[in-house]
This record gives sequence, C-alpha cells and structure tokens, in this order.
Amino acid sequence: MKTNKLLYFFLISGLLLAMACKHDPVVVPDDDNGNGGDPGNDTTDTTGIACDPDTVYFQNDILPLLQSSCGIAGCHDPGTAEDDVILTDYQNIIQTGEIVPGNPEESEVYENITEDDPDKIMPPPPNEPLSSEQISMIRTWIEQGAENNYCDEECDTTNVTFSGIVWNTINNSCTGCHSGGSPQGGIFLENYDDVVAMAESGRLMGAINWEPGYANMPQNGEQLSECKRRAIEIWIEDGMPNN
Ligand code: HEC
Repeated sequence: MKTNKLLYFFLISGLLLAMACKHDPVVVPDDDNGNGGDPGNDTTDTTGIACDPDTVYFQNDILPLLQSSCGIAGCHDPGTAEDDVILTDYQNIIQTGEIVPGNPEESEVYENITEDDPDKIMPPPPNEPLSSEQISMIRTWIEQGAENNYCDEECDTTNVTFSGIVWNTINNSCTGCHSGGSPQGGIFLENYDDVVAMAESGRLMGAINWEPGYANMPQNGEQLSECKRRAIEIWIEDGMPNN
C-alpha cells in the first residue's frame, strides 16, 4: 500500500512536471505523424505473428525436423548432398527437395518419407522412419503452400509434461541425429529413459543452453527458443515425471 502511494506521488509529480514544460519541444511517442518514438515502425513488422494452431510453420516446425533428421553429415547436409538433395535451408528444401506447394503427393521429400519400399524410404534404416505426426505435419505444411513462415510461440510453461512440449521438442530437433545405428556423439535421445539419463548427467541443459564446456545443440541449427529450454528445465526441476 505504502509503495503504491509513493508510486502515485511520483507519477503525478512527473505528469505535472511534464505539463509545466509543455512549451518545450518534447519528443512524444505517437505524435501527429504517427511514427514518433518508434524507429523500427516500418521495418520490423514481420515478427510478432501469434501462432495459429491450425497452421504449420516452416521456421518453427519443419526446419528443425528436417535439419535433425535429414540435413545431417553423411546424408543431406551441404557437404554430402546425397542425390544432390540438401535439406538444411528453405531455398534448398524447396528446390532440391522438389517441393510442389499445395501438392504433397508430387513433392519428392513427401514421397520419400512415406515410401513403402524399405530400400527407398527416408530416413533409411537403421534410422527410424518419421512418426505419423511428423509426416502429417510436413503434409499439412506443403498443402498450406510450403511457405517460409514463422510465428511467435506463446510461452506457456504452466503445465509442462514429458509427452507434450518436452518430447515434441526433443523428437523434432534432436532425435534425428541422436538415434539409429550410429547416433551422433554416441548419444541416444530416442525415448524417455534416454532423455532422463542425459538430463541427470547435466549434459542436456548444458548442451541446449550453449553453456561453456558443452557442445552447442542442436548442432546445425538455431538455439531452441527460450520457452522450450525453460520448459525442459521446469520438467527436470519437477523430477522428470513420465507424464
Ligand atoms: C545435426 C545433428 C545433431 C542435432 C540436430 C543434435 N545433435 Fe546433439 N550432438 C551431435 C554431435 C555430432 C555431437 C557430438 C559433438 C561433440 O562431441 O562435439 C552431439 C552431442 C550432444 C550432446 C553431448 C554434449 C556434450 O558436450 O557433452 C548432447 C547432450 C546432445 N548432443 C544433445 C542434443 C539435443 C538435446 C539436441 C536437440 C535440441 C541435439 N543434440 C541435436 C549432433 C546433433
């Protein structure tokens, strides 16, 4: 209460002061021109798009998955470019992955991840095929026009579960490299037990927070969003429930 009163006092004295100086040329945000005080007004409007749950976003959902499951050394990174396919950035994913916006069936990447022939399916054995959720996510993205889109994730860490945000994050951004016959760095992140073991050793948080002394993960991509890293941390603090 006391602090509130103090605050009002300062606010009102501030206002009075400002009014007293009205004749001075004061820079006020939102002046008559409509662009005062905000230097980034006309250039930085691309961010801040809230995520629509019915839309699949390339930057948020598709790129981390393709980078970790396909765009890796020995497969479809720029250095290897197996079959001249590079799956590490938007341009190359569209061009070399032969994506036909609006038409998943005609898109090379989609054909390969849904292939019945075990000799042709991607990722090839002993890697696990993509999950049905991941496949349908890629399908929806192509159907929606295969745009290079991005949204600002709302950070909801009130109800963190392993099967929700924790596994979705690991599975889409890490499992591709950390699974199969020769997992990168000799580290498996294929299931709950793997994630627990890595968390208990301290290496999980060290790697995703890019702490000194740890390899920065995901290895070839953007750092995980602050929200995702915080969610994983909360899950660890909660005792790593398998919920
Ligand atoms: C493109 C492949 C790739 C992706 C994607 C990837 N990793 Fe790695 N990871 C590696 C390689 C390679 C190493 C070994 C690096 C080294 O030792 O310098 C490694 C090492 C690690 C280590 C050990 C780090 C240490 O210093 O002890 C952890 C933990 C790890 N990864 C977790 C993750 C997590 C979590 C993700 C997802 C957010 C992820 N990785 C995504 C390739 C990848």
